[in-house]
Amino acid sequence: MYRTKTCGELRLADAGSKVTLAGWVQRSRKMGGMTFVDLRDRYGITQIVFDQDNAALCDEANKLGREFVVQITGKVAERTSKNPNIPTGEIEILAESIKILNRSDVPPFTIEDNTDGGDDLRMKYRYLDLRRSCVRKNLELRHKMAFEIRRYLDNHGFIEVETPVLIKSTPEGARDFVVPSRMNPGEFYALPQSPQTFKQLLMVSGFDRYFQIVKCFRDEDLRADRQPEFTQIDCEMSFVEQEDVLNMFEGLVKHIFKYVKDIDFTEPFPRMTWADAMKLYGSDKPDTRFGMTFVEIKDLTTGAGFAVLDDAEYVGAIVAPGCAGYTRKQLDALTDYVKRPQVGAKGMMWVKYEEDGSIKSSVSKFYSDEQLKKWLDRAQAKPGDLMLILAGPTMKTRKQLCELRLHVGSELGLRDPQKFSCLWVIDFPLFEWDDETQRYYAMHHPFTAPNPEDVDMLDSDTGAVRATAYDMVVNGNELGGGSIRIHDSELQDKMFHLLGLSEEEARYKFGFLMDAFKYGAPPHGGLAFGFDRFVSILAGLDSIRDVIAFPKNNSGRDMMIDAPSAIDQSQLDELKIDIVKED
Ligand code: AMO
Repeated sequence: MYRTKTCGELRLADAGSKVTLAGWVQRSRKMGGMTFVDLRDRYGITQIVFDQDNAALCDEANKLGREFVVQITGKVAERTSKNPNIPTGEIEILAESIKILNRSDVPPFTIEDNTDGGDDLRMKYRYLDLRRSCVRKNLELRHKMAFEIRRYLDNHGFIEVETPVLIKSTPEGARDFVVPSRMNPGEFYALPQSPQTFKQLLMVSGFDRYFQIVKCFRDEDLRADRQPEFTQIDCEMSFVEQEDVLNMFEGLVKHIFKYVKDIDFTEPFPRMTWADAMKLYGSDKPDTRFGMTFVEIKDLTTGAGFAVLDDAEYVGAIVAPGCAGYTRKQLDALTDYVKRPQVGAKGMMWVKYEEDGSIKSSVSKFYSDEQLKKWLDRAQAKPGDLMLILAGPTMKTRKQLCELRLHVGSELGLRDPQKFSCLWVIDFPLFEWDDETQRYYAMHHPFTAPNPEDVDMLDSDTGAVRATAYDMVVNGNELGGGSIRIHDSELQDKMFHLLGLSEEEARYKFGFLMDAFKYGAPPHGGLAFGFDRFVSILAGLDSIRDVIAFPKNNSGRDMMIDAPSAIDQSQLDELKIDIVKED
């Protein structure tokens, strides 16, 4: 037996007992002839004491380096100077014997919560990074959540079915990762962006309630909340309407919040239409932890001879509460913020509603106080508030105002990661027009059903048709999304047609699904949550990388195994692939 106890479980009540522990040397220090070693394993840290009376043993201990793997036997004793910061802080082990199980090179960074290792270094040695308790805790949370999600879904009659990873390439939305087939030279598999078509086929097969915690792959530009391979909680249900799906998965989200955070959401999650979300927050994933919703003032600003506002399609404002005291410098910093290329505004205007009721503004040359007061009144601004205004093309300006709102919200400390605000965004448009390719794209995916009330508009007013699609949004993050699907092959054909797919193309890409729909497809719908996002939000983290054991960096590279990498010429030959070298 390597150990009788772990490094996290001994307490004062164990004093006097003889134990054997095994683990890693976190740190060792000499003090007054004694040597103290902090021994660490997954469960915690226990202090080991080597007394000078046993010189040989003390000598052994003094040779231990950081991250050596050792086995120590000794007696549990009450500590004289207790450490209230760790659960084992009341005891220590008086060492009687020690065995080095393995040595370690000096690690490239300290294995502590506040490590001295930079991002790249930690990713290169991720197996050492994972020894840090703060990183390990995230993966423990991930495990617990996966376990509890499975329990909830199992209790509700869902069964987990695995679907293939080598599938057919049908890029839509993101790019596919492709895999060459040796047995079929010149042909490629794709890695699934999601198991979407398979879960629909499982509904045709009568599985009724499916789920899968599943890896998905998307070759897209990476951000803090995006990895090229990520995990979905993918779900589908038969004989359901939107309401059934929302209720089932609102239940799941509430269950997990209760289980992990002991937070009770007693009220139903609010529902906001996509149109309102865009109008009030300039985003389809509004951060509703705080107010500062948009106010449109175009009608109040036109006709004063100020070209910037006269010519603008849209003039929108937000009110920063209690910020009338902002200095010139602070206002300039906000202007600089919106002018950054990532935000892209040309400038920002402001109106200060001073505590004494007076009004100051960057546009007072063009507008009287009386006029400006009307703007403030529309926004229900109070003395002491600051109004910030952006103008330009509607959609673009709303997005910029959204960035400004989030930025000011962060500055004012209104985006507390320990506060959670969940909502459903519903009634998304079915289509999105792309100027570049001059065609419509499915806003969600091509299998999403139109809102039954809008079906008649499919030909006459295509862009205005609403989808039966919904997103779950938490603190400004898209946690998940889904839709009621088309289960009628005629409507599905029409959808492909509207998306610019010829009959042949549609058959080539989705013939299997079109065929399946001829054999009695039940009405069905579902959704998928981003599991990595779910864990990172509950852990209060900014990046999903922190909740993935072996993540990739922003260039899609695994720094530890150094992938992607070149492959042997013989492998290429076998696959009949030539690499074209770029100049
Ligand atoms: P969608 O594309 O909205 O829907 O994806 C569902 C959820 O997956 C998460 N997600 C990601 N997480 C990390 N990295 C990424 N690159 C990434 N891309 C998406 C998000 C998102 O809400 N088949 C449909 C679902 C359905 O209709 O049932 C789908 O994949 O949290």
